[in-house]
Amino acid sequence: MNILVLGSGGREHTFAYQLAKSKRCKNLFVAPGNDGTAAIATNVALSVTDFQAIEKCVVDNKIDMVVVGPEDPLVLGIANFFKETPTLKRVKIIGPSKRGALLEGSKERAKEFMLQHNIPTAAYASFTSESLNAGKEFLETLKAPYVLKADGLAAGKGVLILQDIEEAKTALEEMLGGKFGDASNTVVIEEFLDGIELSVFVLTDGKNYKILPTAKDYKRIGEGDKGLNTGGMGAISPVPFADETLMQKIEERIVKPTVEGLKKEEIDYKGFVFIGLIKVGDEPFVIEYNVRMGDPETEVVLPRIKTDLVDVLEATYEQNLDILPLELDGRAAATIMLVSGGYPEAYEKGKEITGLEKVNDSIVFHAGTTNKDDKIVTNGGRVIAVTSLDLDYKKAIVKSYQEIEKIQFEGMYFRKDIGFDL
Ligand code: AMP
Ligand code: GLY
Repeated sequence: MNILVLGSGGREHTFAYQLAKSKRCKNLFVAPGNDGTAAIATNVALSVTDFQAIEKCVVDNKIDMVVVGPEDPLVLGIANFFKETPTLKRVKIIGPSKRGALLEGSKERAKEFMLQHNIPTAAYASFTSESLNAGKEFLETLKAPYVLKADGLAAGKGVLILQDIEEAKTALEEMLGGKFGDASNTVVIEEFLDGIELSVFVLTDGKNYKILPTAKDYKRIGEGDKGLNTGGMGAISPVPFADETLMQKIEERIVKPTVEGLKKEEIDYKGFVFIGLIKVGDEPFVIEYNVRMGDPETEVVLPRIKTDLVDVLEATYEQNLDILPLELDGRAAATIMLVSGGYPEAYEKGKEITGLEKVNDSIVFHAGTTNKDDKIVTNGGRVIAVTSLDLDYKKAIVKSYQEIEKIQFEGMYFRKDIGFDL
């Protein structure tokens, strides 16, 4: 099979790494990819939202399967585009339809879906500029801290959590006034849930589902979970506190009704559902849905799946997930993200990365890297993810930290406390 992975981060390098291991994968392409994917696949320079360029790439290279990494093309309807385009109809595309992708594309839609299907989530109400005053009154009925969410995609920056009621009211006004562009034309205000976060990954073919390994990511730039939000600074899988009792609650109360809800609403959904959860006491609540895999969660989840990834993805497309035997690696995985100095604010690119070839006990996944004059150089905020496996998750973490010692680039920063709170 010829396979194309869309995207350019650590997530996409991990998909490519697992697909390249499959005997069933003949030619592997990543678009646009990075310097890590270039070593195991053919990179194709295109934008993941340029559907015409993607069509040309698929036709020219006789691609049989497309794995969509990031959310943007899904929210723009890439799965529908494949279904509706004669030259692409036969291609097995992994990712939900536009209606399915709205679970990530609109927070209001996600909340309505959860309410409709009785899925536990924080109480909420949503507001537009016409209902600004009602929004302020609603804030008065809540206790601090106040959670305000831009309805649309805002590159992970659309959620504000504020301690002070006056600040919350001002923030609401600013958001509805265009702080996040059109993404905050509608704002969801919700009850603050006090607990510990984890993510559950589900693969569904629209009828059946498989629960993939759990993961916990570390979103803040600073140690002790302080400072600005990032795409993710590291991750651990499985989540040590996600015991059988909690997982049963998550499956019964959240995973099953989510897949049933998609079915009832006749939503075409063949792909990953990334469920962001918060455990309050012993009870799980949904914070958000994402309609793709997480990054850097993918870097710890996929290496723990032993079943051939081509088989897994094909069963998803063919709606055979019920008969797919999913074999997992019993070892835990930890990944640590190396980022550019300054990230998530302004940072420089083009710094030479050295020492990657010396890493022998961990897997190096490239995120923001490229090749310049035969040198590997930084090309983004998140640069490299170093993943290790071990029966003991603490040993996996230590292994990654030891291997990181061998890697260098100017301004390199990473958190030294990933997994230490568990
Ligand atoms: P989201 O983009 O919806 O995942 O929100 C970003 C982050 O805000 C989450 O990962 C949580 O840490 C936090 N968050 C979102 N909603 C809530 C909530 N209702 N209560 C507490 N924290 C929240
Ligand atoms: N690591 C969080 C995300 O991929 O959205």
